[in-house]
Amino acid sequence: MKIELFLTPLAFGKADLEGKSVVIIDVLRSSTTICAALTSGARGVIPTPGQSEAVEMWNRIGNDMAVLAGERSGRKIENFMLGNSPAEFTEEAVGGKQVVLTTTNGTAIFSQTSSAETVIACGLVNMSRVTAKCAELGHDLVIVCAGTEGGFSIEDTLCGGMLISGLASQFKISESLNDAASLAQLLYRSNKTALRQTIEQGEHGRYLASIGFSHDVAGASEVDSLPVLPMMKDGRLVPDGQFAPV
Ligand code: MLT
Repeated sequence: MKIELFLTPLAFGKADLEGKSVVIIDVLRSSTTICAALTSGARGVIPTPGQSEAVEMWNRIGNDMAVLAGERSGRKIENFMLGNSPAEFTEEAVGGKQVVLTTTNGTAIFSQTSSAETVIACGLVNMSRVTAKCAELGHDLVIVCAGTEGGFSIEDTLCGGMLISGLASQFKISESLNDAASLAQLLYRSNKTALRQTIEQGEHGRYLASIGFSHDVAGASEVDSLPVLPMMKDGRLVPDGQFAPV
C-alpha cells in the first residue's frame, strides 16, 4: 500500500486520485462534527464549500428535511441553524435529517475528490473504524489534512500519523510513504501518550478555547469515542453500508 499524506489542501490540489482511497482529516472540528451528526441519527452530511452553496442545497432539499450548519472563524454563521460544534449535533437537532455543512477549511476538500475510489471523513473519534476500512480496501491511500487557513495544523497531522501507524502494523508501508506521511508518523510516535495536551497546545486548539469551545477540543481528542465510518456516496457522507435516498 502506497501512502501519500498532504499537510494542507493546497498541496493536495494536483494529486492523482484514480483508484485510491482518500481520507480527509479535520480533527478541529469538521470531521468530529460529521461523526457526531451521523452518530445522532442524521441521514447524511452534505459538505459544501461556500455559504451560498450551502443555503442553495438546504433550500433544494427542503427546509423541513435538512439542517443548515456551518462556521466562519469558528463561530456559527448568522441565520444558520447550527454552527460547527459537535456538541450541537444532538439527536433532537439532526435526527432523521440531512445536514448541510460548510466550514472554513474542512468541507471544501470533499468537492475535489470526485475521481477517488473511496472518500472517508476521519478524526481521532473514529480512528479504529477508518483504519480497519482502509486495511480492508487495501487501496493506495491519500490522506488530506485540512489544516487551518491554508497552513499546517498539528492535530490533523497527528491524526494522519496515527492512521499510518495503525496501517503499518498490518502492511509493509515503510518504503512507500511520502515525506509528509513519514513526518506525520514521527509526530504521532513522539506524542501518542499526550494527544489531548498536544492538540490543546496547538494554534487552533488554543483559538477554539479562547472563543469558548475548549470542550470541543477535549472531545475531539478522544480516540474512538464516536465509532462511525462516514463515507461519500453521491455527494453525501453516510455511515458505511448505508444509503438512504434524500
Ligand atoms: C474548519 O473546517 O475550518 C474547522 O472545522 C473550523 C472549526 O473549528 O470550526
